[in-house]
Amino acid sequence: MLGPGDIPSYVLLPGDPGRIDLIKSTWSSAQDLAFHREYRSAKGVYKDVELGAVSTGIGGPSTAIAIEELARIGVHTFLRIGTTGAIQPDIEPGTLIIASGAVRFDGASLEYAFPEYPAAASPDLTMALIEAAERLGYSYRVGIVASTATFHVGQSRPGLNGYEWSLSRTRLPDLQKMRVLSFEMEAATIFTLANIYGLRAGCICAAIANRVTDKFVASKGVREAIIVANEALRIISKADKKYGVKIHSLSELGSVIDSG
Ligand code: URA
Repeated sequence: MLGPGDIPSYVLLPGDPGRIDLIKSTWSSAQDLAFHREYRSAKGVYKDVELGAVSTGIGGPSTAIAIEELARIGVHTFLRIGTTGAIQPDIEPGTLIIASGAVRFDGASLEYAFPEYPAAASPDLTMALIEAAERLGYSYRVGIVASTATFHVGQSRPGLNGYEWSLSRTRLPDLQKMRVLSFEMEAATIFTLANIYGLRAGCICAAIANRVTDKFVASKGVREAIIVANEALRIISKADKKYGVKIHSLSELGSVIDSG
């Protein structure tokens, strides 16, 4: 169990506890902290900043617990790093998806706010992700993702014995028309809670599948997404040090990016 000060205030949130090892491998030093159920945590140093990482498990309910507990011990910047299934035909597997917002099909966030409340990412952290992806030369898209409460029927995949119903038949084509980029399962919960509590949140995922072209690549882009996430948290933490913890303007972000 973690207490105040045990983990840095800037935290990467993978879904999978196994990804903590991959995150640690991108840091110059790293230390495991705790492991209970789906929640595995570590802290370490990326270049010159201290970062934390905590796995959320799959879906909104376990993710909401992680946000609640981490916010209580001083975490104020949450950056989901995960995988996603693209639903637009022109997104190649391996592309990084930076979520500017999320459709709230996650279920859990409905226990925090009515459905019309937007699940929006923090603008400065999203800009920091875009800047980092640009500088690293990785292929990325920015837009809205859809966070679902289930992987199969909620993402328009057939259930057991081909089970489907009107929602599973129409969800994917409807979201495509609305220019939603992809399905995943945690961003809406993170964004909704972060906005309600006045915390910062962002999301970058590797598109490991394309549901239209039926292409699949196991974990392609995940390491790249982690590196972009590390860089984005570094930009934000430097801006916080210089200007205080707040939503940063472009010139504030630019001043810390330019100084290296
Ligand atoms: N994660 C999801 O939730 N859906 C996918 O298709 C791939 C990753």
